[in-house]
Amino acid sequence: MKPEIILTAQGHAGTMATLQSEFACHKLFEAPDRSAFLNQHAPTVRGLATFGPMPVDGKLMDALPKLEIIANFGVGVDAINLEDARKRKIIVTNTPNVLNDCVADTALALILNTVRRFPQAEAYLRAGNWASRGPYPLTTSVGGKTLGILGLGRIGEAIASRAAACGMKIRYHNRSKKDVPYPYDPDPVTLARNSDVLMVVTPGGPETSRLINSKVLDALGPQGYLVNIARGSIVDEPVLLRYLQEKKIAGAGLDVFADEPRVPREFFALENAVLFPHVGSATVETRKAMGELQIENLRRHFAGKPVVARVV
Ligand code: 8YV
Repeated sequence: MKPEIILTAQGHAGTMATLQSEFACHKLFEAPDRSAFLNQHAPTVRGLATFGPMPVDGKLMDALPKLEIIANFGVGVDAINLEDARKRKIIVTNTPNVLNDCVADTALALILNTVRRFPQAEAYLRAGNWASRGPYPLTTSVGGKTLGILGLGRIGEAIASRAAACGMKIRYHNRSKKDVPYPYDPDPVTLARNSDVLMVVTPGGPETSRLINSKVLDALGPQGYLVNIARGSIVDEPVLLRYLQEKKIAGAGLDVFADEPRVPREFFALENAVLFPHVGSATVETRKAMGELQIENLRRHFAGKPVVARVV
């Protein structure tokens, strides 16, 4: 008998195919009546494969009393209430490391695109402005600028080495100091004050909610840029929008938003922001590797072995 699991959303095709060949899968996202669906599967479902931002809380866990494991597709587990899982002795797994390089590439692309305004320059050419209005206005150099990394973990270090290759100086803030060659700042405001580009890499969740507020943006100042490749919840989005509109910071590069995929329309009108639709890890290779790790966690758990990437 294949172990029974629930899938919370439609995943990458290859991952879905393997999940469906190895487990008896029930698709919550196709259920017309969520509570009837949960009642029906409660007696037999032992695993949850989670994708995306759907909240997984104690209420959902209690609706599935046989639940043993929540295997997330993605490194960020902010949609899962970890304390609720811990209390119920439910294992939570994620997919770290395999996405570091792709997410760091996206972060570097946002630095370059935001500071050098490459998308805007390209749009200028496509609009026929080069011939009619002359060269695109000068921007500012990336080399020599300071990148402040908020959350220097594995992804943060991959961003640091890329940015250093572009001639940037690196600083960081974490809850505690690390054994790294970069200067440490004691809090996000100091980091922002000492940085030209502030890079948000810290995990989402209640502890970091709206950590990037007006105080941090004031410290970043009118010459400073914000880049967020972590979670939209970490930034006070209405405040950021106002600071961009009023040019109280120089610009922002955003791969993540507070209520994805809904992005406030006012962002579309900003000429000092570069906006990506959460593509940090979105390559065929990386999504395949993430899926394999999610599945390996489930496989090992149901074979009675320790999982590979355990969060709780
Ligand atoms: C994915 C991510 O876009 O790993 C994460 O935490 O945010 C991204 O890699 C997401 O997990 C896809 O559901």
